[in-house]
Amino acid sequence: MAALPAQLIDRFGRRISYVRISITDRCDFRCIYCMSEDMAFLPRAQILTLEEILAVATAFVELGVEKIRITGGEPLVRKGAVDLLQEIGKLRGLRELVLTTNGSQLEKTALLLKSAGVKRINVSLDSLDGDRFRKMTRIGDLDQVLRGIDAALDAGFERLKINAVVLKNRNHDEVSDLVDYVIAKNIDISFIEEMPLGAVDGHDRAEEYYSSDDIKRDLDRRFVLLPTPETTGGPSRYYRVSGTHTRVGFISPHSHNFCGTCNRVRVTAEGRLLLCLGNEHSIDLKRVLRANPGDMHKLKHAIVDSMAIKPERHYFDIKAQPVIFRHMNATGG
Ligand code: GTP
Ligand code: 5AD
Ligand code: SF4
Repeated sequence: MAALPAQLIDRFGRRISYVRISITDRCDFRCIYCMSEDMAFLPRAQILTLEEILAVATAFVELGVEKIRITGGEPLVRKGAVDLLQEIGKLRGLRELVLTTNGSQLEKTALLLKSAGVKRINVSLDSLDGDRFRKMTRIGDLDQVLRGIDAALDAGFERLKINAVVLKNRNHDEVSDLVDYVIAKNIDISFIEEMPLGAVDGHDRAEEYYSSDDIKRDLDRRFVLLPTPETTGGPSRYYRVSGTHTRVGFISPHSHNFCGTCNRVRVTAEGRLLLCLGNEHSIDLKRVLRANPGDMHKLKHAIVDSMAIKPERHYFDIKAQPVIFRHMNATGG
């Protein structure tokens, strides 16, 4: 059988060291930029089992991946999520196990996550106003999320980051308040430009587009932002807020494309290995897993072969109808 390389490298010379694994497409929120109001979720049999997810994570780590981010939907609504994190946290060679969450379950899970070996947590928080928060998430309870963030702070993770998707006339006037909040908590924040993934109802993406440059201009009126080359291996471009420990990041798929340094792939809850968030190129790992139970070599081969179809970049156009039909919850961002 053909030998396997120690690292994953694509056709453009980019090394894949970061994998995002969505462990469920379900979520207890319905954020307006992520989902439509009445979403259908996948039947249980179609999503990877916890054992299959662990096999996929193991295969990636054996192929040189150093960072795994667990995402959803909301990952913590899946039964067994904490046990799975515990197993992934034990993989030798993995440097960073991290999690992206909406924060709704953090109050009760923060300590368990810390002891499972989760290093950093990113929590979505688009508004500090309870009514607005409810409107943007359609369901979410702001106080519950704020208590979750405090529980995570108490648990002592290496770093916490807030993610805020900014939409014109919904929360764009809150960016300074959000920065005041993260400074007070001594944590980081990333502001995100909305991406056209899946059809959503209730707002017009082009009309509500608010660019990273707009946000930066607004923040410059209140804060001194010093550019820094620091990176987490993610797509944020960071600034330090002068006189604080806080970093403010901008994730700008429209205004500052970052595909040239892409180091990541993602696995959907269904086990589709997706080579780019903004393209459909993928490999069906679930089929490989279920046709060859326990065969790590076949699984790793499929992953290595997928490098040949990783696209160079995305072609998002916020003004056009989405060409990517999958919603963000199917991918985990
Ligand atoms: P860090 O490890 O803290 O840097 O995390 P991260 O920013 O990579 O992950 P997070 O889950 O917090 O994602 C924040 C936003 O970045 C989400 O909206 C993701 O969809 C977006 N994002 C992450 N990777 C990519 C990518 O490769 N392409 C695009 N277009 N967006 C991405
Ligand atoms: N565009 C940009 N970011 C999105 N997120 C969810 N849907 C979208 C979208 N359409 C964000 C969430 C979460 C992260 C994983 O992705 O707010 O913070
Ligand atoms: Fe759920 Fe996250 Fe999508 Fe909001 S953005 S509906 S919290 S998966």
